[in-house]
Amino acid sequence: MTKSPLTLYLAAPRGFCAGVDRAIKIVEMAIEKWGAPVYVRHEIVHNKFVVDSLRDLGAVFVEELDECPDDRPVIFSAHGVPKAVPAAAAKREMIYVDATCPLVSKVHIEAQRHADNGLQMIMIGHEGHPETVGTMGQLPEGEVLLVETVADVATVQVRDPDHLAFVTQTTLSVDDTIDIVAALNARFPKIVGPHKEDICYATTNRQEAVKAIAPKCDAILVVGAPNSSNSKRLVEVGARAGCAYAQLVQRAPDIDWRALDGIKSVGITAGASAPEVLINEIIDAFRDRYDVTVELVETAQENIEFKVPRVLREPA
Ligand code: F3S
Repeated sequence: MTKSPLTLYLAAPRGFCAGVDRAIKIVEMAIEKWGAPVYVRHEIVHNKFVVDSLRDLGAVFVEELDECPDDRPVIFSAHGVPKAVPAAAAKREMIYVDATCPLVSKVHIEAQRHADNGLQMIMIGHEGHPETVGTMGQLPEGEVLLVETVADVATVQVRDPDHLAFVTQTTLSVDDTIDIVAALNARFPKIVGPHKEDICYATTNRQEAVKAIAPKCDAILVVGAPNSSNSKRLVEVGARAGCAYAQLVQRAPDIDWRALDGIKSVGITAGASAPEVLINEIIDAFRDRYDVTVELVETAQENIEFKVPRVLREPA
């Protein structure tokens, strides 16, 4: 049977960012250095394929530190942790390695600095996401106020409108955040914030790349996990940029082929925690059904790399 022609627009940059790459290396190097099992508090990055691969090497994933024994190393995930977590590990004299992305740690330091200067903190983020929990947990409970939407800005109750600062989650929608920051500035003209927002280079670049492919595509598939904030934002950005069908898929079997019936062009991108092997799996699934032409649409180049902590670079 002759296959119908289909153009796949492959967004670049896509997939792994420097923080995810470093976090995975940290787990691999920790297992090499200390042997298995090495405990990991929370999914090291939000991707089942990555987590399963590390589990096969000897990582044990838990949600809370009290599920780890005292005598095995523990790693904190790329999303960051409240201050109380490393403090508890130190108290138990555990070996721990913090895989928090350096760009998230930078936000933690910002929040602490503003609090030290007597400013009350507002965080723009998603309630319950581990990064938000980690950043808010840099200060005592109740000290950081969370806003998720422009509507929240109108109702947030602050101690003193003249002594405020804000930070953001690193994986938000750039466009939504601009609106929330504008609402904060309008209601609290003296609020102090980062020069732009704290949204990281990887989130920004992946959203820009999706905007570039969306108008050309009948459908967009974002490879990523349902609990990955930056992947979910890519779906929204693709839909808003003019693509009628934008879907999150974890693996090739998740593709809804019936929904794609009759299409001529598909955009493919991936969240920052999705490995390239899964993108190739999706492309191969299209090749099985269509006569595929792949076109790379590159809107930025990335060459950022973060070092792993010194403890893993030193001999055992
Ligand atoms: Fe870090 Fe941004 Fe990746 S904060 S983990 S570089 S998505």
